[in-house]
Amino acid sequence: MYPFNLPKLNFNYSDLEPIIDSKTMDIHYNKHHGGYVNNLNILLVDFPEFHGYSAEGLLINHLKLPESIRQAVINNAGGHLNHTLFWDILTPGGSVKPIDEIKDCIDECFGSFDQLKNRLIEEGLNRFGSGWVWLVTPSKDKLEVLSTPNQDNPVMIGKKPVLGIDLWEHAYYLQYQNRRKDYLESVITILNWDKINFNFLSS
Ligand SMILES: [Fe+2]
Repeated sequence: MYPFNLPKLNFNYSDLEPIIDSKTMDIHYNKHHGGYVNNLNILLVDFPEFHGYSAEGLLINHLKLPESIRQAVINNAGGHLNHTLFWDILTPGGSVKPIDEIKDCIDECFGSFDQLKNRLIEEGLNRFGSGWVWLVTPSKDKLEVLSTPNQDNPVMIGKKPVLGIDLWEHAYYLQYQNRRKDYLESVITILNWDKINFNFLSS
């Protein structure tokens, strides 16, 4: 809720190397995510009626926002919410494979973890320009892969994300340049499945 703040990271900038280099991590977290947080606070300063909303609440209720700030709030509240989830589901070394309840649901919805990985990569490559690829729960005990443009979040269409991967070039260009596929394949190896399973159970 307003005023929004950068969340604390569960790891140091260099901890995700060699998958994500520390310079990318530093710029991405402080400059990009930090920029969304600052912009969102500036946008809402004169709109106290929205100070009680979380970033997720602002996106779910985006049609209630005055038109003069609506798209900018979507961009920046989305930027804040999306990156907060992203940092939360990454962990040094990764936790290798889906576990517990989400493993069963992945096997049921996609056939196997390998099939899910292929879907995430395919969907991530098909997103033209900037955006995110998501694993979402459209309803209880159901999982689906989709992507959104820019900083949109699936809660805007009633679907709760349990995992999101940043497809903006700022997330990978220093290290992977134009090789989005290599970046996606690598990032999937540092996902925190304990946390993703927790998100799945809470959705
Ligand atoms: Fe980003």
